[in-house]
Amino acid sequence: MYAIAGASGQLGRLALASLIDKVGSAQVVALVRDPAKLADVAAQGVSVRAADYDQPETLVTALAGVSRLLLISGNAIGQRARQHGAVIDAAKAAGVGFIAYTSILHADVSTIGLAGEHRATEALLAASGLPFALLRNGWYNENYTGALAPVVAGGVLIGASGAGRIASASRADLAEAVAVVLAGGDETAGKVYELAGDAAFTMADFASELSRIAGKPVVYQDMAEADYAKALESVGLPDFIAAMIANSSFQASSGALFDDSGTLGALIGRPTTPIAQTIATALGVAAA
Ligand SMILES: NC(=O)c1ccc[n+]([C@@H]2O[C@H](COP(=O)([O-])OP(=O)(O)OC[C@H]3O[C@@H](n4cnc5c(N)ncnc54)[C@H](OP(=O)(O)O)[C@@H]3O)[C@@H](O)[C@H]2O)c1
Repeated sequence: MYAIAGASGQLGRLALASLIDKVGSAQVVALVRDPAKLADVAAQGVSVRAADYDQPETLVTALAGVSRLLLISGNAIGQRARQHGAVIDAAKAAGVGFIAYTSILHADVSTIGLAGEHRATEALLAASGLPFALLRNGWYNENYTGALAPVVAGGVLIGASGAGRIASASRADLAEAVAVVLAGGDETAGKVYELAGDAAFTMADFASELSRIAGKPVVYQDMAEADYAKALESVGLPDFIAAMIANSSFQASSGALFDDSGTLGALIGRPTTPIAQTIATALGVAAA
């Protein structure tokens, strides 16, 4: 049995679909806090089980009979090393034979503030004695396309990434890759996969692509990290989220979101989705 923890999230749902394609729904277990969220998946024959990273007692039961587990990192920033540790302990107790964990690109050396919890989880996996693989995901293309309408309307894209090159990848490509690894065999144990898009862009490149696809002028305006955080707060983001986004953006200026290993494309067996495609999808226009 193959299980996905975090199956109800945006990456998790895509990974579930990809895994079902590869191994069939009868061999798939979806772990979710609220099973009602995955009623549609249960209707396809997937075993949907209640599991909360904050309730360790739910985890061992939910992992019964599972041989390979994909642990998708949670989204409770600051709580995640403890939460992931509970899942790893439960996996060990339940006799799970392999864990694949969605970490952050180049977690071992990453200067991004968010990387700390991922490094801590990687260390817990290493200490567990269980076979594991690290799926070190770069930034999603969709991080850059979630709120394009006001950018196009105002003609200015702001950020703190300078001329840093960003090799983001679509969630769908990353989901397919994690499903490939989960559905794989013993060769995946001990592997570290640095997962990023084939092509990299600077934020100025992004503004220029957006401008071309939207048919409106858009320029990139670089800011100091603190000013970018303030700008994000001024449009309603909570201060700690604004600080986290600004930190990631600034760290990208020195290459924290760049990778050219080609690992993602090799895993999925095709070129990764270009950022222009994700922009076009977000704007609801034909692929550019
Ligand atoms: N690479 C990137 O650019 C990027 C960007 C954002 C986040 N991330 C990381 O990658 C993960 C997956 O991304 P995503 O876009 O799929 O995020 P997402 O849509 O927010 O999904 C997060 C998933 O974590 C689950 N979860 C949160 N707390 C949990 C808990 N206590 N117990 C069990 N499950 C819990 C959520 O379950 P519910 O449905 O019950 O809430 C959901 O399924 C994120 O959680 C985050 O760690 C990466």
